[in-house]
Amino acid sequence: MSAQAQPVHIQDVCILVASHRADSQSRRIGDHLKSRFLEGQATMIDLNEDKLPLWDGSEPSDEAAGGGESPADVVNRVRQKAGEASSFVFVVPEWHGMAPAGLKNFFLWVGAEELAHKPALLVTVSAGTGGAMVVNEMRANSYKNTRLNYIPEQLIFRDVNNLWADIQDRESDEYLAKRTSCALKQLKLYTEALSPVRSELTASLKDYPNGMS
Ligand SMILES: Cc1cc2nc3c(=O)[nH]c(=O)nc-3n(C[C@H](O)[C@H](O)[C@H](O)COP(=O)(O)O)c2cc1C
Repeated sequence: MSAQAQPVHIQDVCILVASHRADSQSRRIGDHLKSRFLEGQATMIDLNEDKLPLWDGSEPSDEAAGGGESPADVVNRVRQKAGEASSFVFVVPEWHGMAPAGLKNFFLWVGAEELAHKPALLVTVSAGTGGAMVVNEMRANSYKNTRLNYIPEQLIFRDVNNLWADIQDRESDEYLAKRTSCALKQLKLYTEALSPVRSELTASLKDYPNGMS
């Protein structure tokens, strides 16, 4: 018998929305995951709202343009949010067969200190039939130094504009809801299993800050 699409409580989970477009489908899906499947209990980093400066090796400026947050404020806030999370849901769109450049920029600002050995569920989204290339890309090259721990389960949301939208009674919506609930339950189990051993796992980072390649 297949699992039901029930909400899951995951302590201190953070949803990272990797689209840096305004009004993105990734954000819509991130909001939907939070409200329907995570009991509304998740923090969120949205790379459109949380406008990280482009990393160039220099310290972020603490001068705010137009009275808003300074680049240094944004970097600190995003680092703090990631650091406080015990696990992540990464919602990543496929852009030209790639993960967005802003997500790579995120990994240059936020690293092992905030991410290492924390479990992460990959959710990729595509307006068409894409999504798999991004899964492969993330699993291939975003964990080496961050030591982010992608769980084996993943979700690929194709035809995303119509997913959990206005069309009623779509069999595929129901299937993906159950599948989402199942993947989040697994994320919860990994989170609970790994949280108590995180300090032991991260102890070797001072000797080996970079993974082998
Ligand atoms: C610059 C750009 C490139 C895109 N390239 C692809 C692609 O290679 N494959 C694909 O399935 N969808 C592609 N799309 C469409 C996205 O799947 C679509 O915009 C979807 O809504 C997810 O992106 P979003 O979260 O930014 O809305 C692209 C979209 C943009 C903005």
